Amino acid sequence: MCGIVGYIGYEQAAPFLLKGLEKLEYRGYDSSGICLNDGSELVVKKAKGKLEELKKLTDNGRALSGTVGIGHTRWATHGEPSDVNAHPHLSESGRFAVVHNGIIENYLQLKEYLISKGVTFRSMTDTEVIAQLIEFYYKGDLIDTVIKVLSRLDGSYALGVISVDDPDRIIAVRKESPLIIGIGQGENYIASDVPAILAKTKRIYRLENNEIAILRRDSIKIINTDREEVKKQEETISWTIDAAEKGGYEHFMFKEIMEQPKVIHDTISPRIRNGRVVLDEISLTPEQLRSFRKINILACGSAYHVGVVAKYIFEKLLRIPVEADLASEFRYRDPIVDDKTLTIVISQSGETADTKEAMKEAQRRGSHVISIVNVVGSAIATESDDVIYTWAGPEIAVATTKAYSAQLAVIYLMAIFFGDLLGTIDEKQYGYYVSELLTIPDKISQILENSTQVQYLASKLFNSKDIFFIGRNIDYALSLEGSLKLKEISYIHSEAYAAGELKHGTISLIENGTLVIALATHEPLIAKTVSNIREVQTRGANVLCLACDDHKELADVAQSTVFIPKICDMMLPSLAVVPLQLFAYYVASAKGCDIDKPRNLAKSVTVE
Ligand code: AGP
Repeated sequence: MCGIVGYIGYEQAAPFLLKGLEKLEYRGYDSSGICLNDGSELVVKKAKGKLEELKKLTDNGRALSGTVGIGHTRWATHGEPSDVNAHPHLSESGRFAVVHNGIIENYLQLKEYLISKGVTFRSMTDTEVIAQLIEFYYKGDLIDTVIKVLSRLDGSYALGVISVDDPDRIIAVRKESPLIIGIGQGENYIASDVPAILAKTKRIYRLENNEIAILRRDSIKIINTDREEVKKQEETISWTIDAAEKGGYEHFMFKEIMEQPKVIHDTISPRIRNGRVVLDEISLTPEQLRSFRKINILACGSAYHVGVVAKYIFEKLLRIPVEADLASEFRYRDPIVDDKTLTIVISQSGETADTKEAMKEAQRRGSHVISIVNVVGSAIATESDDVIYTWAGPEIAVATTKAYSAQLAVIYLMAIFFGDLLGTIDEKQYGYYVSELLTIPDKISQILENSTQVQYLASKLFNSKDIFFIGRNIDYALSLEGSLKLKEISYIHSEAYAAGELKHGTISLIENGTLVIALATHEPLIAKTVSNIREVQTRGANVLCLACDDHKELADVAQSTVFIPKICDMMLPSLAVVPLQLFAYYVASAKGCDIDKPRNLAKSVTVE
């Protein structure tokens, strides 16, 4: 996600801003920029690509005077990566500059309003709306203006604001997206995260939602949107720089597991308006959507596992044939595809070669392609016919977690949207699914708050040699992901198996002490899965069962059972995957593996 830095003091600001942005590079970005108040005007320098480009443009900051400034590394959500879309964004007159981390969900309506009032925009971003609104409402008091602008914004934001009319202050605001205030001697700082300012100070304030910080060189005042002063507890950072980049977590993977509630909220909430699913990204007319006779889902790895979950969901809800296919297989099997086939392509990076080539093969055969991608402006995103972005922010750990979960959330949105369009779900079901979807972030938070049991089980089981994940229906689809997560970071061999298939061969591998992780969340088939549990137990297996907390009787079946909160059947994978991610993480941690960078693996496989 984006990174913010700000400085107000008596030294040249630009070199510090660039050093601070360097410390935020781990957050992932595609462009960067800084803005300095040189006493007479706001000077902005921005560059697409790596920070090196901005350093070259500014002679490492030495070319820019001014002792007040803000800087930004951008992770694109609205508007392709480019110089013009990079932050900071200026108002039309150039008197106000803004940097922003988050998503302004109603930016289009606000932009249309301002354009109707004669305001000219330069960029495609949601952020520019904030700078333009400040200028539009400014009557001489910057704080009042910022408060008024905040009342117009829907969404999440961490903001840094400077003005040529108010040269001795930086205004910082937080809502959902983190922002900290660094406390210096004769200088003060703002930053998205601790690493950016750790070289200057270990003393910080952490802004809470709807708090506004007013920074001068020798004072920091924090108020709420009623302009009431807020007393803050000063915090002293004890972390090292490396630990700070992971938000205090030991690994990016764990940090990203913990980010899942927010990531799912960020991905679904802009697409649910007044209780209706809105997918403006899909260019197809209802008639075109109704004309499809089949859906193909193409992807690799964990993204493919999302496709398998989607197969069960779409076929159940939409009653049309769905095939989830490994991209690397699809493209070489002379697939049966035509213009009556809808192709959905799923990819976190948007650069996976097998997936990209499979997409092109489908397009060559006349299929319309909708992609679900996390990296804005990536190859698959730009070459597909429609793209629905997951707003998971950059995923640093090689083993995907939050992107997988965000992809599932988009699948649910599509299922509800298409089901309504095809008339295969009624209004009551529609409302039920939307309400269930909105409970996912909190239910995942509940699971994350109660992860000690999974940690304990991992500490007992991390020496297992072969592990089997079994399940039926949607539990089987999820078992694929549980097995891969474990394999790729702990290097323990494991297999995912349809529970009903075990007796057709693989059960011969079950012996005394073999660990079998049985997923039994899919209500209609619990009894059958229990039979499969018994089958493997009679052959000596040690069974860890994953079930919903309305089936406590399963604790008497398996040797150990982890319960998750109940949710509608099609959304169970979003909850059940979390204990499996945690189990893989804790097992790999107990084995001392390199969790964020597992051997032999790359984050994006751009070769065949
Ligand atoms: C998942 O943990 C793996 N890192 C890998 O299977 C990954 O899902 C696969 O390579 C697909 O990558 P993509 O989503 O970027 O296309």
